[in-house]
Order: sequence, then structure tokens, then C-alpha cells
Amino acid sequence: MKIILLGAPGAGKGTQAKIISEKLEIPHISTGDIFRANIKGNTPLGMKVKEYLDNGELVPDELTVEIVKDRLGNDDCAKGYILDGFPRTIPQAEYLDKVLSEMNTSIDLALLIDVKDEDIITRMSGRRVCTNCGATYNIVFNPTKVEGICDSCNSEVIQRADDSAETVLNRLETYHKQTQPLIDYYKKTNKLVVAEGAEEVKDTTERVLKALGI
Ligand code: AP5
Ligand code: MG
Repeated sequence: MKIILLGAPGAGKGTQAKIISEKLEIPHISTGDIFRANIKGNTPLGMKVKEYLDNGELVPDELTVEIVKDRLGNDDCAKGYILDGFPRTIPQAEYLDKVLSEMNTSIDLALLIDVKDEDIITRMSGRRVCTNCGATYNIVFNPTKVEGICDSCNSEVIQRADDSAETVLNRLETYHKQTQPLIDYYKKTNKLVVAEGAEEVKDTTERVLKALGI
């Protein structure tokens, strides 16, 4: 199954993607995670994109689309994948459609995880991520068993650099301006399904699995 996850920053895309990926045994591809790994590794790509992430702005389309195209060509994508954080602009969505049609395939569903802006702001200040495996926690809604230590791999969990209050507001604004139009884009082709992302992670998961019919 080929799934796109749509939703505001902090809607829970990464959290739900991990669960779907394990259930369907398909890779979770997050452009944000790819950029952060490159920043951490000081690669040429990382140096180019750091400023955009730090400011809560989108990385230019031409840098982003090539990375995704390469990644979709990997063998582990044969059975499907979950795209988390891509596409994020109409030109990215059009590019993806073109690349997939060249591969004689297409997206099955675009799932919107729908959360109100005020809930997003509360969540982001409490988010913590594992420095090793990328697992996501929240000090209020989904804490680690031992403070500061990842439940899965025992590494340190930290706050993401772009989770400061000011950057979160910027990311939300960018989302409304540039990414929200994708909701209509996928509605028009009957690919859009919606799951409300409020309440607890497990309630959201129930709605997500139902919306995807899995
Ligand atoms: P990216 O990494 O994609 O960030 P984002 O879209 O801003 O989304 P987040 O990862 O912040 O949130 P999420 O929806 O994954 O939520 P999470 O599961 O962590 O992108 C970062 C940057 O990279 C962008 O700003 C941009 O610069 C660049 N970029 C990436 N892709 C790009 C592209 N295609 N084009 C251009 N630039 C690109 O959950 C959030 C918190 O809420 C956690 O603490 C979690 O525990 C908690 N939580 C989750 N679900 C629930 C629930 N149901 N109830 C209560 N709490 C919950
Ligand atoms: Mg994420």
C-alpha cells in the first residue's frame, strides 16, 4: 500500500507512521527525518537545508524531490511505503504523480491527521525524540518510562531544535499557506481520507487504521 500522510506540524504523522509501518511491514519515509540526519552528519545536503529547518520554512522543492525519487527506487519500497511530510506543496505533489506514473503506479490513499492549531502548540512544547532510533514521545501525553531515556533503545531523548515556540508558529503558518492546499488536491482524485488526531495516541491510531481500511 502506498500512503501519504498529511497534517500540520505536530499532528502526529511520525507517531502514527511508525505504527502503520510496523503493521504493514512497509518503510516509513520522512523527509524531515532525512534532512535532520543529514544535518547531524554535516553532509553537503545537511549544510544546505539547516537554515530552512531552523527557521521553520520549507526546503526548496528542487532539493526535496530528488531525494524522494531516489528513495522510492530502493528495493524495500516494492510493497509500498508511507510518505510522511512529503509532498508538502502542490508542485511536489505533481512531481510525485509524474514519477509514480513513470513507474506505472500511483498513491493509494492520502490520510489527513486533523488537529486544531491550539492543540498543536501544547503538544510541541512537550515533544521529545530519541537521538538514536527517532522514536517520538511527549512529556505530558506519551512519556518515556524512565525520564530522558528511550523505551525502545535506551538512548538519550531530546527536544527537537525546531520545537521552540516561535519556530512552531512559523511552521504552522507555512503549513496553512503551502501545504493545506494539498487537502483539496487529493480530495479531487478521491484519495483523501481523514482521521481526527485529538485525544490519546491509541485513540488516534484506531481512527487512522479504520480510515485506511487496515
Ligand atoms: P517534519 O519533520 O516533517 O516536521 P513537521 O511536518 O513539522 O511535523 P512534525 O514531525 O513536527 O510532527 P508530526 O506530525 O510528525 O508529529 P509527531 O508524531 O512528532 O519537517 C521538519 C522540517 O523539514 C520542515 O519544517 C521543513 O523545513 C523541512 N521539510 C520536511 N519535509 C519537507 C518537504 N517535503 N518540503 C520542504 N521542506 C520539508 O507528534 C507530535 C507530538 O505530539 C509528540 O510529542 C507526540 O508524542 C504527540 N502526540 C502525537 N499524537 C498525539 C495524540 N493523539 N494525542 C496527544 N499527543 C500526541
Ligand atoms: Mg514528524
